[in-house]
Amino acid sequence: MKPLRLILTLMPFVCGCGDGSSGADDLLYDELSMPRVPTVALDSFASAEDCGLCHQTHYAEWATSAHAYAMKDPVFRAFVAVRQENYAGKQDKFCLQCHSPIGTRGGDIEAGFEFADLQPITLEGVTCESCHKVASLARPYNSGHVLDPDGPMRGTIAAPIPSSFHESQFSLLHGGSAFCAGCHDLREVSGLVLERPYAEWQQSPAVAAGVQCQDCHMPRYEGQAVAGGPTRTLHRHTWIGAGIPLLEGFITPDEEAALRVEVKRLLAGAARVDIAAPASVRAGDVVDLGIIVKNNISAHNFPTGSTFNRQAWVEVVVRDGDGRVVFATGTLDTSGEPRGPGLLQLGSVLVDARGQRVLFPWRATEHVSNALEPLRERAFRLRVATASAGRGPLSVEARVLFRAFSPDALRALGLDEYAARLEVHEVSRDLASVELRPR
Ligand code: HEC
Ligand code: HEC
Ligand code: HEC
Ligand code: HEC
Ligand code: HEC
Repeated sequence: MKPLRLILTLMPFVCGCGDGSSGADDLLYDELSMPRVPTVALDSFASAEDCGLCHQTHYAEWATSAHAYAMKDPVFRAFVAVRQENYAGKQDKFCLQCHSPIGTRGGDIEAGFEFADLQPITLEGVTCESCHKVASLARPYNSGHVLDPDGPMRGTIAAPIPSSFHESQFSLLHGGSAFCAGCHDLREVSGLVLERPYAEWQQSPAVAAGVQCQDCHMPRYEGQAVAGGPTRTLHRHTWIGAGIPLLEGFITPDEEAALRVEVKRLLAGAARVDIAAPASVRAGDVVDLGIIVKNNISAHNFPTGSTFNRQAWVEVVVRDGDGRVVFATGTLDTSGEPRGPGLLQLGSVLVDARGQRVLFPWRATEHVSNALEPLRERAFRLRVATASAGRGPLSVEARVLFRAFSPDALRALGLDEYAARLEVHEVSRDLASVELRPR
């Protein structure tokens, strides 16, 4: 049985691309997020370290987060290098507009830029002021934030105490999912939808329940926003997701160990697997297995985000009464990739015009997703031959597994050294037993 597949279609991408004079040599630009001439001054933004003088906890958490990693990430840099080559630098701002909105709007990212030459504020990636100097949202995708460098620091404290360093202002925008959409929903230049957790959220039961991205990804705690300030409900700035930084030295080994625990905690139970198996079959007969996978997340798909880079799949192993493997799918082959008959994949694939799977989104014409929608379940069917089984009973084990990248993809990017740091996470597991009746 083929699972239902969702084909993500081309969406109009509002940008000033071409501006009427659309020759192939034109630089790709967009007035808001990829301007021709700088719209903000780099030196009007403060470094995260300055904020850390008063907001120590926020700074310490941010510094270990994916947002601080966004411009240091070797996987990001490897992708960008290929795109720079493919478009001879003409689209260099495209990939940078969310990973460093300040650098892209501030003129640091120009055609043919090199990471080694960038200013420190650009290399801070998604730094404090790329969020807290946001005045409004112009579109819920592709770096849709309007930055106000001379404005107050915006957040969700209704009556902030005065600070000598900055003015403060309450902002409703910062407390809701739309705020995250500005960077987390991504459309290629072609209009192909690549990432869309916010679009998924908009269709999800979380909207009616009033559950925002921040509720899960910026958990609340009680504390002081500044030493000596009033006790308030604060928000974690760790943004735990599915990945850990592969670049060694970005965080300390202790921080990495703690992060791995948090990632495991987020992933554990994100989806659930159940086996539907008959109580018994006649020895030699085919066992009809139902594998039911459910997304436990109310707010977005499992998996979500950059699903074309992520791997989520179901491993099913059937053993006989002596522990010998009778059937297996989703186990890792010698190159470390999940393989097997009827492999049950939950991620997505990018496909080019010839129907071939591609790694680089700009070469794709279709994005085919097997992801599970919020709180939805899907039943897969596997037919397992038992002719090779010894004595019964058969034991069936099914696991939903998740990995941030495919080792093959990292090798294709020349990042072999990081493949060993990838971890396969167990999201859910179920066991069943099937008696073998004599023939
Ligand atoms: C709309 C804003 C936006 C744009 C434009 C964008 N990204 Fe990203 N990128 C993100 C977000 C958000 C994530 C985190 C998604 C996730 O983890 O699921 C991300 C994650 C990534 C990752 C995975 C990082 C990791 O280590 O886990 C890579 C690689 C990447 N982007 C490359 C690119 C490339 C190449 C381009 C240009 C084609 C690009 N990005 C353009 C927002 C953007
Ligand atoms: C000299 C100390 C100091 C520095 C440096 C500082 N802040 Fe603040 N900030 C404060 C104080 C005091 C408050 C109010 C805290 C309260 O009311 O609990 C505050 C509040 C905030 C708020 C909440 C605003 C609201 O209304 O929700 C944000 C966001 C913020 N700061 C971000 C930053 C960022 C980003 C930086 C660095 C660019 C920074 N701060 C640097 C002292 C400082
Ligand atoms: C009810 C809790 C919950 C809410 C609300 C929620 N998430 Fe998630 N999110 C999760 C869980 C659990 C995971 C890990 C499983 C996965 O990757 O799908 C996750 C994973 C992610 C990832 C990492 C995906 C990857 O594989 O790289 C991103 C990015 C993300 N969420 C963004 C968002 C955004 C943006 C919103 C709001 C539109 C949001 N989340 C709302 C629970 C939540
Ligand atoms: C990716 C965007 C983003 C970045 C980067 C970011 N913040 Fe925040 N911050 C938020 C959001 C969103 C809230 C409000 C969350 C809510 O109310 O649900 C917030 C809240 C705050 C608050 C108010 C107290 C609280 O915890 O609610 C302070 C202070 C603050 N941030 C400081 C900082 C500092 C300092 C940095 C950099 C070291 C930083 N932020 C980086 C998005 C960001
Ligand atoms: C200015 C752009 C920007 C904004 C705003 C933003 N993000 Fe991100 N976020 C990114 C980028 C870029 C990455 C990926 C960085 C990398 O790994 O290379 C990311 C990564 C993440 C991750 C880690 C994903 C993983 O796979 O580990 C989570 C979780 C996340 N963001 C949640 C949020 C939430 C929740 C909000 C809203 C409060 C938000 N982000 C707002 C740009 C942004």
